[in-house]
Amino acid sequence: MAEVVIVADADAAGAVVADAIVSLIRSKPDAVLGLATGSTPLASYRALARRITDDGIDVRGVRGFALDEYVGLPAGHPESYRAVITREVVEPLGLTPELVRVPHGDPATIRTAGDDYERAITAAGGVDLQILGIGRSGHIGFNEPGSSLASLTRVKTLTESTRLDNARFFDSPDDVPMHCITQGIGTILRARHLVLLAFGKAKAHAVAAAVEGPVSASQPGSAIQLHPHATVIVDEAAASGL
Ligand code: GLP
Repeated sequence: MAEVVIVADADAAGAVVADAIVSLIRSKPDAVLGLATGSTPLASYRALARRITDDGIDVRGVRGFALDEYVGLPAGHPESYRAVITREVVEPLGLTPELVRVPHGDPATIRTAGDDYERAITAAGGVDLQILGIGRSGHIGFNEPGSSLASLTRVKTLTESTRLDNARFFDSPDDVPMHCITQGIGTILRARHLVLLAFGKAKAHAVAAAVEGPVSASQPGSAIQLHPHATVIVDEAAASGL
């Protein structure tokens, strides 16, 4: 059973996440962080950046692996997850850019990109702490409903509803890519600590299904129940279905 922590808002969650990551880095200067994109973890990244500065934490050895990436966006596109992770995580936290990886969404190398990513995570010794958001459909990473609970990093087709949810980051809904490359649910479950964040009423159903529903591929978030160390940090609205 996941531990559920109910907080006032995303900033309060950020303080909890920053505490957990700072103590991890203090005990392991080359800690491996699992990084999520989306709007949910942004306040946590900001809180962490402040803690790193205020406490003078040396993060030069910290490594990172993003959960997912769009396939086929032009290199340097501001909404590619590579660009988002650089802008929202690597730069504000002062991480070493070469130590933070994002799956490669370049169609030219996509056939081997999933296996390459799995090998890189394994070579790094696995992810110590994985930050997760959750989609309204219950997706984690880009593992949409129906994704195997044992899946590894691979190419997936985005659902129409996720493309619409993410259209706000693009000029037009048609600009949202059709495909992505995402860590699998099996990949995510190998991380040593999962920290799932969710805020707002729109996430209440997905949170309830993840924490209390049957473990099922139709609710990818429910896979966290299979993990021995999962922490769910939510506000009252996101917890309202529990
Ligand atoms: C996106 C990302 C997920 C994220 C989710 C929720 O599509 N691929 O990693 O957790 O959808 O996004 P948001 O945090 O913006 O609600």
